[in-house]
Amino acid sequence: MKIILIGYMASGKSTLGKKLAKKANYDFLDLDDFIEKKENASVSEVFKTKGEIYFRKQEAFYLKELLKGDNNIILSVGGGTPCYGDNMDLILNANNVKSIYLKASIPTLVSKLIKKKSKRPLIAHIESEEELTEFIGKHLFERVQFYNNAEIKITTDGKTKKDIVKEIFSLLF
Ligand code: S3P
Repeated sequence: MKIILIGYMASGKSTLGKKLAKKANYDFLDLDDFIEKKENASVSEVFKTKGEIYFRKQEAFYLKELLKGDNNIILSVGGGTPCYGDNMDLILNANNVKSIYLKASIPTLVSKLIKKKSKRPLIAHIESEEELTEFIGKHLFERVQFYNNAEIKITTDGKTKKDIVKEIFSLLF
């Protein structure tokens, strides 16, 4: 089975994905890391030198590649992945795939992203917490319609990582 973790930037896709993979004895893959290896550049560098449209093309291409085959993997995708082209349909219609939306509130996302924005080209330029809150509010509003198509939705606010992993595990296995 392929378990695809989706959600906004800093919703915990990679951290929880790694823990879940360990518990389920699955391989863990992160789509951004995969792109960085293939492109031999960081996501920020790809955005800077080749632009976002190029990044989105590569993202869709490598997503398709990773959805092929019948290996067991936990795959965390980028916050934008489900929202471009037919990526979300591909995820939903792929063989033996379960999609999970990790749903975090705007204040939680802001408090995490304010510390980790430099590696994220879409928000790196934002200076204040107030501006970031406004940006995330609008951005999430546009994106949530894609995220909500996931088969499983897990709210993460106020739960420990351990509890979230347990909850996902019990829904899947
Ligand atoms: C993006 C999220 C990032 C990365 C890129 C664009 C987005 O991944 O793919 O910076 O559009 O939300 P994370 O969600 O892992 O930060």
